[in-house]
Amino acid sequence: MIPFSPPRVDQKTIDAVTETLLSGWITTGPKTKLFEKKLAEYIGVSHVMALNSATAGLELMLRWFGVSEGDEVIIPAYTYCATANVITHCGAKVVFVDVNSDFNINVEEIKKNITKNTKVIMPVDIGGMPVDYDEIMDLVKQPEIQKLFSPSSENQEKLGRIMVLADAAHSIGAKYKGKYTGTQADASSFSFHAVKNLTTAEGGGVALNLPEPFENEDIYKFLCLFSLHGQSKDALAKTQIGGWKYDIVEAGFKCNMTDIQAAIGLVELERYEDDTLVRRREIFDMYSSKLSEYDWANVPVYEIDEKISCYHVYMLRINHASEEIRDEIIKKISEKGVSVNVHFQPVPNFSFYRNQGYDAKNYPVAYKNYEQEISLPVFYNLTNEQVNTVLEAVINSVEEVLAVNA
Ligand SMILES: Cc1ncc(COP(=O)(O)O)c(C=O)c1O
Repeated sequence: MIPFSPPRVDQKTIDAVTETLLSGWITTGPKTKLFEKKLAEYIGVSHVMALNSATAGLELMLRWFGVSEGDEVIIPAYTYCATANVITHCGAKVVFVDVNSDFNINVEEIKKNITKNTKVIMPVDIGGMPVDYDEIMDLVKQPEIQKLFSPSSENQEKLGRIMVLADAAHSIGAKYKGKYTGTQADASSFSFHAVKNLTTAEGGGVALNLPEPFENEDIYKFLCLFSLHGQSKDALAKTQIGGWKYDIVEAGFKCNMTDIQAAIGLVELERYEDDTLVRRREIFDMYSSKLSEYDWANVPVYEIDEKISCYHVYMLRINHASEEIRDEIIKKISEKGVSVNVHFQPVPNFSFYRNQGYDAKNYPVAYKNYEQEISLPVFYNLTNEQVNTVLEAVINSVEEVLAVNA
């Protein structure tokens, strides 16, 4: 079976983890701090806060901004459940909006759904393709939208407008107008989960980019506390002579990154731009150049109008396919020994959200994208021969199913 997205683990990764395991320090410490520094340099921001997931990063930032009951947060209907769940955790209302045919959030739909209760917009760079950042940042700064904003926390007061918190779980290394994602929104949460382009097994990082008068260093320091029980000293600081005494200044969370994770991340980051991304692009190009020959194939756009994807998910769509036909195709592809996936099932369609009155029918483009979508395997060690096997399995399966259903 050709797997969907196994991690790249080689001797370099094993050596880095072993060295950390034997170093005497395995939780948050020097490796995590170095990983944060290198990530910040790579992305082009002053501070990145490393955590144990992108989900934690999104939730910490919502809470930092004081999002709570009565507030509304706008997100695309087409995303992973994490984007919505963190809003629910904060007690706020999830406002789903429809997306474009390129899978990303529709800015007109955002505008239509802004109310006086809107506190945050969380766009998602689906599959690694950046959203329309300039349009979203311009929207929240429009005088009539800013006038509508009614702050209910100190940080909301200070920002004076809706915060744009990017769910950049997929988009480390993607570029928007020549700059990496993480430098457009107020804050961006990246994922280093096992299937992601750059992994730490589980992990996440928040790139801080808040405008003046905020000091991103202060927010970073707050997040260090907030991700570790609100403890005024981390475990490493407590090991210093006389350092045993600490205070609890917040009822914080527990979602810090460990040095074992950071050791993997440092190896991954070092070879990311010139090796990982190059290979992922080659695989995307091979898929697209072959599949473009077929009328039924709607191949993903991964470079357009000053946006360059980081080639995270190859999101093929089968033109005119219904959900049943797409599912049949997936079954046939799997029978031919190739693992594929669907990114994503629209979140309003999951029972938890349906039970609260959301209805996927209200997001027709998201639903259509979903019912025609099949994500193909992309990972560093996928060989050209395997890419051809995937292509053959996909093409034959689609043609077999379309012939029966013609
Ligand atoms: C769009 C999106 N947002 C958020 C997440 C959450 O990332 P993590 O697993 O690091 O919390 C994911 C994970 O796959 C995702 O796909």
